[in-house]
Amino acid sequence: MTPKPDNTPEKPVETLTEAEAAAELERLANEIAFHDERYHTEDAPVISDAEYDALRRRNLAIEQRYPDLKRADSPTGSVGAPLAEGFAKVRHAVPMLSLAKAYTDQDVVDFLERAKRFFERDKDFDIAFTAEPKIDGLSASLRYENGVFVQGATRGDGTVGEDITANLRTIADIPHRLKGSGWPEVIEIRGEVYMTYVEFEALKERSTAAGGQDYVNPRNTAAGSLRQKDPAVTASRNLKFFAYAWGYTTADPAPTQYEAVWKFAEWGFQVNPLMVRAKSVDELIAQYRLIEEKRSSLGYDIDGVVYKVDQLELQRRWGFVTGEPRWAIAHKFPAEQATTTVIRIDIQVGRTGTLAPVARLAPVTVGGVVVENVTLHNEDYIKGFDSNGQPIREGRDIRVGDTVVIQRAGDVIPQIVDVVIDKRPQDAMPYDFPHVCPVCGSPATREVNEKTGKEDSRRRCTGELICSAQAVERLRHFVSRGAMDIEGMGAENIDLFFNAGLIDTADDIFTLKDKRVEAQEALAKRREEQARQREAVSGKERKNVRSVDQRNFEGLDKLFAAIDARRKPELDRFIFALGIRHVGDTTAALLARTFSTIEEFIRVGKETAAAEDPHTVFPSINGIGDTVIGALIDFFGNERNDKVLDDLLEHVHPKPYVVNVSADSEVAGKTVVFTGSLEKMTRSEAKAMAERLGAKVAGSVSAKTDLVVAGPGAGSKLKTATELGIEVIDEDAWLERVRGSV
Ligand code: IVH
Repeated sequence: MTPKPDNTPEKPVETLTEAEAAAELERLANEIAFHDERYHTEDAPVISDAEYDALRRRNLAIEQRYPDLKRADSPTGSVGAPLAEGFAKVRHAVPMLSLAKAYTDQDVVDFLERAKRFFERDKDFDIAFTAEPKIDGLSASLRYENGVFVQGATRGDGTVGEDITANLRTIADIPHRLKGSGWPEVIEIRGEVYMTYVEFEALKERSTAAGGQDYVNPRNTAAGSLRQKDPAVTASRNLKFFAYAWGYTTADPAPTQYEAVWKFAEWGFQVNPLMVRAKSVDELIAQYRLIEEKRSSLGYDIDGVVYKVDQLELQRRWGFVTGEPRWAIAHKFPAEQATTTVIRIDIQVGRTGTLAPVARLAPVTVGGVVVENVTLHNEDYIKGFDSNGQPIREGRDIRVGDTVVIQRAGDVIPQIVDVVIDKRPQDAMPYDFPHVCPVCGSPATREVNEKTGKEDSRRRCTGELICSAQAVERLRHFVSRGAMDIEGMGAENIDLFFNAGLIDTADDIFTLKDKRVEAQEALAKRREEQARQREAVSGKERKNVRSVDQRNFEGLDKLFAAIDARRKPELDRFIFALGIRHVGDTTAALLARTFSTIEEFIRVGKETAAAEDPHTVFPSINGIGDTVIGALIDFFGNERNDKVLDDLLEHVHPKPYVVNVSADSEVAGKTVVFTGSLEKMTRSEAKAMAERLGAKVAGSVSAKTDLVVAGPGAGSKLKTATELGIEVIDEDAWLERVRGSV
């Protein structure tokens, strides 16, 4: 579901009248909220980061021109996550501090010298320090009262953070009740929430499969994961937590830092095993070197080593400067760099068709890790530009044969930070980014965002149904609940039959019956495998092997019956199931409603693809803009999709679309306007729902409007409605009114 595409080109901010600016701010607030939701809550953004930034920039520009029009729900100031409505503020009883930094061994020597000077008047001066990894995550403060976790907060600005208790509760490393005994009545345990590389990669994989965005690094991703509205999403991220400090407490956990942290371990926390206690600079630096050596095998990001005075008594005496303890310091790792050469540039095709360039490098060790591949992101990046069109690497392009500087900084994902132009071979040619998909040979295009007029930075394969790189994902989508809804044919079975070579394209699903024996073998093999794994775990042997085969037959019969049951799908489901780019379920329903039959849809689609000007053929449909039309042209312009469609239609006969207006729906035949922000559904969902019930949804309020559904932040439309005496209800009242008919 995408928000309603708007065909009118954007007016420059300088030429907007006040009324237009107000309307535009409302639209932008809604749209940005919609994309925030997709990005943060559903992990399935529908626009690129650059497009999203453009929306925010336009919003800000308008607000700067008309400061008085700034809305209560203005997206400015809140970054991404729905903060305003999201999280309550928590004032930290003891501020959460940052750390002074050391960059060289000498800085560490100086730190110990300062300590010595401070305490030198003490006769039996015997200061010790701890050294431990500085975890590159997000700090959190967890309040325990009588051993029970009662509240958890982010660091925020150090004084006030956000209450993210529900999200923190989903982290397995955070005990809901402290174990053992001897904990203070109240204690705020502090530490770092982080994401392991394994989790990060798994999430990226899932996101790519869902057509989602590229996660930058584990730290940012952990941050995003913690600020989810829905704790279930946080839970799915499998975040981890190391305890290393504390804030407010009714009693010292122990006399020293080192013992206190080990107490935390007794109470059920994870503490970093690389923490040591030491007395001399040499010992501290030795630990720093050791941790640096182990850095690449830890499985999570660290960006330095923290030294802390061990004795709490001495910590207290040495005290604080603004925002930092004097008694601790972070010894940072230098950014690691190395030079190597680009041997080749390969193009990988993601499951959603994105062409992802990868540089194959002469293997080189950067900070203990051998780097052989590095992502080149997209074609502009190779040319030397970032997603905002700004030069990177001083605008130097990357060519095969180039000598390049690789860096692994805070995050461990290596990047090419520079090209050594002096070493460029004379015959090195600018890289020619392919315009066809290397997997299926279909054209690979860059879409133009209809609102910003800017090209997407990613080139995508238009092979859709025929590209095997995209095949599995498309098949999964095809059978999914919102699409063809084939019961029993989940992602697992799709993978199984695809890997067994039994289904390649969607039409194969409908002839799977003819390959019953092979299908059964594939299922049996999987069951065998699963049983073997269970045995390996339990150590017990199976007794009845034959019943396995029996079950397979029954399962298959059921599956075939479920497939047969979907041979006459609703037209909108079928169109949605095709997985055409930008055609979500709402758009599919609009197309189905407009064209009524699959034949008509295909006829117009093909004619549009063949026409010089698509607008001469494609009817103007409210809610369908140039992005969708462009996607349809790509789809129908590809002859190979024709074949797949033809094959599919031999087995599947979508029902003509009949507008199913619920006669008893209270809103049938009425004109409804939605304004302000909706909290329980997206705009497009609301619209689709109203239309399903036979209502007409309009974009502006006029005398013809029957009903206005106004959410928080509703502005001029609400005002007009009140002036015209039109009935206005809120979202809850709307849901109440349509209940029973949806
Ligand atoms: S101690 C009063 N120990 O670094 C001491 N901080 O730059 C408070 N951090 O906000 C912090 N690993 O998010 C401490 N082992 C560690 C740490 C650590 C990571 C972070 C923490 C803090 C930031 C300060």
